Amino acid sequence: MRATKAPATLLLLLLAIEALDANRRKQKDKIPPTTTNICDISDRDSKVHCYCEFNQEINEAVKTECWVFNGGIEKSDSLWPSFISQTNIENLAFNVRADGGLSFVPSKVFKYLRKLKQFSIKYSSIPTIESYAFANVTSVQELTLTKNQILHLSRHSFYNIPNLTVLTLDENKIVELVTETFYELPSLQKLYLTSNNISAIQDGAFRHLVNLIELELDRNNISELKKECFDGLANLKRLDLRRNKLGVLNSFTFTELWNLQALLLDYNEIYGLAQRTFDGLSQLRKLSLSHNKLVTLASGLFEGVRGLAALDLRHNSLKRFTFDNLRPIYDNLKTANSYIYLEGNEFPCDCHLAWMHKLRHEARSVKVRTSLENFICKFDAKQPLNSHFTYYERSVIGSNNLYEADDRTQIKDYSEADDFIHEEPDDAYDEPKSSKGENDRTLLQIPVETLPCPQVTKSVTDRTYTYPSQNEAKDYRNLILSSSTKVETFFDLFLLPFMLLIFRTAQM
Ligand SMILES: *[C@@H]1O[C@H](CO)[C@@H](O)[C@H](O)[C@H]1NC(C)=O
Ligand SMILES: *[C@@H]1O[C@H](CO)[C@@H](O)[C@H](O)[C@H]1NC(C)=O
Ligand SMILES: *[C@@H]1O[C@H](CO)[C@@H](O)[C@H](O)[C@H]1NC(C)=O
Ligand SMILES: *[C@@H]1O[C@H](CO)[C@@H](O)[C@H](O)[C@H]1NC(C)=O
Repeated sequence: MRATKAPATLLLLLLAIEALDANRRKQKDKIPPTTTNICDISDRDSKVHCYCEFNQEINEAVKTECWVFNGGIEKSDSLWPSFISQTNIENLAFNVRADGGLSFVPSKVFKYLRKLKQFSIKYSSIPTIESYAFANVTSVQELTLTKNQILHLSRHSFYNIPNLTVLTLDENKIVELVTETFYELPSLQKLYLTSNNISAIQDGAFRHLVNLIELELDRNNISELKKECFDGLANLKRLDLRRNKLGVLNSFTFTELWNLQALLLDYNEIYGLAQRTFDGLSQLRKLSLSHNKLVTLASGLFEGVRGLAALDLRHNSLKRFTFDNLRPIYDNLKTANSYIYLEGNEFPCDCHLAWMHKLRHEARSVKVRTSLENFICKFDAKQPLNSHFTYYERSVIGSNNLYEADDRTQIKDYSEADDFIHEEPDDAYDEPKSSKGENDRTLLQIPVETLPCPQVTKSVTDRTYTYPSQNEAKDYRNLILSSSTKVETFFDLFLLPFMLLIFRTAQM
């Protein structure tokens, strides 16, 4: 019988090793002589086989990979205590090779592995991560639980792991994030939840992750962001919400994220952004909203994000992007590493895009210039070239009375060290060049002063027409001033701010 022969042999072996390494005496003495060395499992019926890199001797393994075969290992299996045979493991991975092979986190092994730094489980079926499954695994720095069919995380599933910096839960089926799942994780910097089925985030779900820098929630099923769902994430720098089901974003949704630099919202169904959606994001440099359903933008949308220097709005249904929209971030877009992408919308070639001429001249960023040079708008041939607005614009050119230099204080030039901006958008370069349609024109090839403006409804009593705001009107005038060399001064004599009055008089 194995049991009678083994202790004697093992004892001899232990004595030999001990002679070689007196420092490890204490650890060796603790190992019961009958304990299996998990790096050397000879039992052919064992449900688990481990491969230990470099050295399989007792307590010598550092990197260990265990395969779980023969479905259905129990929590009570004698294998788990056998991990006492390799207390120096720093990197441990379980790969499950049979469906249902492992349905729980083998928490029992942790108490033997005081040097464990990386731990991972893959391809298991663990419906629920129980509370305290990883409690007090004090040395672990990286936990990876990719592809484990996890449905539920419990309160305190990840509890008191003081050195944990990266937690990966990608490609599971997690449906909800509840409060206090992530608790006492003071070192956590990266939390990855890509490709789950999250549709609800409870208020305060991340409240205790004060040192988190990156949060990935892309490829989930999130349709709503509650007001307090990002509470506590005061150090977050990058938030990825791409490929969810977001439709409307409310004011102050991100207001707690006052260190956020990059906010990715591409591939949602966003059609509504409240004017103050991005308020509070004072450090935001990059905002991407491509592949959504935006039709209009509130004019003050970027008032609260004055550091923005990289903006992607491609593939929405935008019809208008005015200088009023752009004003709070205009100076940032002139700096070296900025970009603004607007392709794939429904912009008519009109005076609301006149700022493109100006920015093209003032931008130092190659990305900005290239993107503007290639910008295509829809030209309506039926619209008379010399629309009233053009006329109106000419009429006010020359008078500097309304000109206010927009010299806002101190503009930062964004340095190459700005990680999050330089991360290219998903499809920056592989965009299929859509062939130019019949009415497509390159905006910058249309002389700025001939850009038509939408017709004014003639009747003054028609309340549906809103005149351009004072600011807007002024801006177009300045844009034209600074973009064209020839300035007509015929109407110099007329004093402003009676512009609209003048126009109406001239029209009568
Ligand atoms: C974790 O450590 C705390 C404090 O030392 C202790 O009270 C608790 O019982 C431990 N939990 C587990 C699951 O070991
Ligand atoms: C946690 O990390 C710190 C700093 O790297 C280290 O000094 C400490 O020993 C680690 N704790 C454990 C239990 O490994
Ligand atoms: C996602 O969760 C919903 C319930 O919220 C469920 O009906 C649906 O089947 C799940 N989808 C997948 C792919 O697991
Ligand atoms: C998303 O969530 C909705 C509602 O909870 C559910 O009906 C739907 O099946 C989910 N979608 C996917 C792809 O799982």
